[in-house]
Amino acid sequence: MKINLDKAINLLKKGELVIFPTETVYGLGGNANNEKTIRKIYQLKKRPIINPLICHFKNINEIEKNFILNDYAYDLATKFCPGPLTLILEKKESSKVSPRASNNKKFVACRIPNHSIAQALLNEINFPIAAPSANLSSKLSPTKISHISNILLKNAYFIDGGKSLYGLESTVVKIDGNNAKILRLGSITYEQIKKIIPNTIINNFHTELISPGQLIKHYSPNKPIRINVDYVDENEALLNFGINNLKSKIIELNLSINSDLEEASRNFYDYLHIIDKSECKKIAIAPIPNNDLGKTLNDRLIRASSIK
Ligand code: TXA
Ligand code: MG
Repeated sequence: MKINLDKAINLLKKGELVIFPTETVYGLGGNANNEKTIRKIYQLKKRPIINPLICHFKNINEIEKNFILNDYAYDLATKFCPGPLTLILEKKESSKVSPRASNNKKFVACRIPNHSIAQALLNEINFPIAAPSANLSSKLSPTKISHISNILLKNAYFIDGGKSLYGLESTVVKIDGNNAKILRLGSITYEQIKKIIPNTIINNFHTELISPGQLIKHYSPNKPIRINVDYVDENEALLNFGINNLKSKIIELNLSINSDLEEASRNFYDYLHIIDKSECKKIAIAPIPNNDLGKTLNDRLIRASSIK
């Protein structure tokens, strides 16, 4: 695919928004140093201002100019950057990153995307790109341009980079003393982080809540979903995993017949988008093992199925 990036680069320089591919999901990005641009992102996504944005940098040197990294942060960055890791880092006084990007907090989410188009954009500009996933707030993340809502496509220039390589968002980690806290499970697993920092804990608030009803709805299709099913109702579509006896009369897609969690992750949002548009009234989801990327998939499913 031949892509001309000049237009996107010029728009970014002018403070406009660009939808671009990363290895995880598509981002809706703009100049992270420009307060007006940040406001546009929040408005377009209908995102609550209290939910801060991830700033995308071209390399670790650019992060070091703006943020303080301790030894543990360097250990993780050395292993996983560029890639689907987001580190929550303390801003230096000298940083030009807009306080709006992090809801005026001094800790900011930073990541170095490992995608040739994202890298090509970052190489031609002299500011980081603040970019949430390119979906309306609380809806499914996009792993293809066709998943992105018309409201976003009409209001931002977009670059089609095909299907995302990983298909799940980055893993958000905050270093706290000797601990690594996983604030959002993602494309890098708990098990992978734990190999680098033994004191790693998952602290992505739903694990601390007692009732799933208390969860804030997120990553959700428009149709209601039921997870860990052992039967499928008449009016339900089926998102299946592995080999079993589950069947739907409406539509069935299998995340991975071979029970391969990487394949399932790549297909996850794509299949949910397809099923959501089908004739079904509800979506039944087969059990997915709760290890490695399965933890991330189950995290998204628990949030998507929450009623709030
Ligand atoms: O893979 C990804 O991370 C994609 C691509 C585009 O980079 N971006 C993405 O952004 O998923 P978004 O805005 O949809 O999700 C950002 C996550 C949210 O869970 C947010 O609460 C958390 O990162 N986050 C951002 N800034 C934070 C901060 N300062 N402290 C704690 N969590 C933060
Ligand atoms: Mg998002």
